[in-house]
Amino acid sequence: MKRQTIVATIILLATVAFALAPLFRRNVDIPIPVHHALHAVMMAGAALAGILFAGSSARERRSGAAWLIVAIFAPVFAMLLMWPSEYSFFEMHPNGHVAEHLGLMFLALVAGYGGQRYANGIGWASGIGIVAMAVLGIWGYGVAPAITAPVVVAASASNAVVVPNVAHGSALFTQNCAVCHGVAGAGGEGPPLKNERARKTLAATEAWIKNPAPPMPKLYPTPLSAQDVADVAGYVETLR
Ligand code: HEC
Repeated sequence: MKRQTIVATIILLATVAFALAPLFRRNVDIPIPVHHALHAVMMAGAALAGILFAGSSARERRSGAAWLIVAIFAPVFAMLLMWPSEYSFFEMHPNGHVAEHLGLMFLALVAGYGGQRYANGIGWASGIGIVAMAVLGIWGYGVAPAITAPVVVAASASNAVVVPNVAHGSALFTQNCAVCHGVAGAGGEGPPLKNERARKTLAATEAWIKNPAPPMPKLYPTPLSAQDVADVAGYVETLR
């Protein structure tokens, strides 16, 4: 094996091991922006491995148009995988979450490999492009509710004890509430929570979560702290 291939294999294996983390460490409460940053690292590793696997010689330049298409479409698919609804669906379960990681990494690998097979240097361009998408997530792409949050928070914070951190609330909702209320409050065993702010104010939602009627479980004071309740209630108020 060429040295470049060995290095690529090591990088790829290390990145895959990293991507499997949700299987072993469940319910780790990572802020969403950090989470996206971790995705970006995984994808950068996979793209780099792809570039190295392809080698720098771009031997097949003539037969390579198909590789260019691969290099362009891989980032497009990655973008779809990070679409807000898909994203929160996959994040809900450790297995889905890992599948999402591996999917993103596969696409990054293919983007780097395909680009580099097409022409020397293109792999870097497509690799950087696909990683840039995960980096965009750090500022909100793939987590739509967090973007609209500040306005709502400002409007309803006056009658709340603590100011909610809606991004954190969104993560808490996925972990604690989505089983019954569905992804983004679409409904399930529990009632839909879309447009809940038309029914309950932030304070009323907090009060309900702290002291719900069965069959909804009481999650306060454990596992949810007062701040957690405020965060998740703040998030619920953003659902529409
Ligand atoms: C085990 C299932 C279950 C879980 C987990 C759960 N809920 Fe509920 N929730 C329900 C059910 C069932 C109701 C309806 C209860 C009723 O109206 O008597 C409800 C009602 C509510 C309501 C009031 C809806 C309304 O306007 O009448 C809110 C708000 C709510 N849940 C938020 C949450 C939040 C936030 C979480 C997570 C911290 C959560 N729930 C976790 C089952 C659940």
